[in-house]
Amino acid sequence: MAISDFSKKYHEKMFPGYRSAFLGTDPEFIERFDNFAFDEAVISDDLDDKTRFTAILSSLLGCQGIDEYRAMLPAALNSGVTPVEVKEIVYQSVAYLGIGRAFPFLKATNDVLLARGVKLPLAGQAGTTMENRLEAGEQAQIDIFGAGMRGFADTGRDTNGQVNKWLTDNCFGDWYIRGGLDYKQREMITFCFLAAQGGCEPQLTSHAVANMRVGNDREFLVKVVSQCVPYIGYPRAERPPLCERGGKKIKKRGKKTMANLIVYYSRRGENYWNGTIKNLSKGNTEIAAGFIQKAVGGDLFEVQTVKEYAKDYYACIEEAKRELREGARPALKVFPENIGAYDHVFIGYPNWWGTMPMAMFTFLERFDWTGKTVHPFCTNEGSGMGVSERDLKKVCRGALVRGGLSVHGAETAQSEGKIAAWAKKSME
Ligand SMILES: Cc1cc2nc3c(=O)[nH]c(=O)nc-3n(C[C@H](O)[C@H](O)[C@H](O)COP(=O)(O)O)c2cc1C
Repeated sequence: MAISDFSKKYHEKMFPGYRSAFLGTDPEFIERFDNFAFDEAVISDDLDDKTRFTAILSSLLGCQGIDEYRAMLPAALNSGVTPVEVKEIVYQSVAYLGIGRAFPFLKATNDVLLARGVKLPLAGQAGTTMENRLEAGEQAQIDIFGAGMRGFADTGRDTNGQVNKWLTDNCFGDWYIRGGLDYKQREMITFCFLAAQGGCEPQLTSHAVANMRVGNDREFLVKVVSQCVPYIGYPRAERPPLCERGGKKIKKRGKKTMANLIVYYSRRGENYWNGTIKNLSKGNTEIAAGFIQKAVGGDLFEVQTVKEYAKDYYACIEEAKRELREGARPALKVFPENIGAYDHVFIGYPNWWGTMPMAMFTFLERFDWTGKTVHPFCTNEGSGMGVSERDLKKVCRGALVRGGLSVHGAETAQSEGKIAAWAKKSME
């Protein structure tokens, strides 16, 4: 076996006239690596070189591969990534890695650019002033994540201090609004920073959703991550959370293998409880969903909003009332890829102002319900199912919506028998 012609040509395109010293010291390694990274990986999809190198540089920042970054930067510049774009990648990485990790990359970038005769500083790209960065950052968050981000900077003070505000004015207001890269490119590089550094799956999940919102679809993200494999290794590239699934129980019915899906929304925090206010560490609907899974098996999926509702009960009911009045569709962190594998879908939610929380509408409107059997369950403090079943029938067009179960929220934990019996009967 030898280094393939394609790999040699690609190498020459990246590093014209350069002969790696590894060819002498590590011939067997370099043969396999070059064939993999510069042939097999490159021809595996239709990404253009510029996008590939943008992803590679970002993932090298994410995994802290400083020597390889220094080596690959000239290849990126030879493949159409501009000095402005490289600088923007490094600047934005500070928000996801901190200057502690980005610093050597900024120095390496300057060294490489200066050695190529690029004059520094480059033309300014700032898109905001200190006066409007908060407002502009919020608009960027709304554009990328959806209207649910309005007011995000003012949330989380008690648990997160200033961090949510800084995410708005610093992360988005200072960096995302700059020139040089558009939102699609900025979301892609953020995805690479997060995937390559590992350990920040919640952020990776919400940025996977954000990527899809700005037009980087799932297929594209899978290609991007695949291109990073030679640079970041397999563990951080395997199955990025482009879609999350819950439990794994599969139920056999005749010859066909089908699973139940138990999807629910539930809110932890202060809630109305038998006439008083109680702080719930686990939501009532979440408890009920667990009982159903235990009784009939299936995958659990929790509907989670990008923007959390207030933990304070009275603040939350005002938020919910406003959303109902406006017919809001709050952005969700993640959706199942599809629901084709399920025939019975249990749909659980608390009664909020007489129907489902608006987040459930966001979820339900995403899918084709034709042929599904839907079983609603609703926890509440006295209003029963309200008009939720009527609303469900409207949204889940084509599904058979069976009789729902109303559970008194404060009694959920003691209602396992009733909930399990209903779930089992629903399956008959
Ligand atoms: C925003 C909001 C609105 C609510 N509206 C109603 C209502 O109209 N009728 C009712 O019986 N209970 C209402 N409740 C009480 C919840 O339905 C009940 O506490 C439920 O069990 C909470 O479920 P969870 O813990 O899974 O979120 C409301 C609670 C909240 C937070």
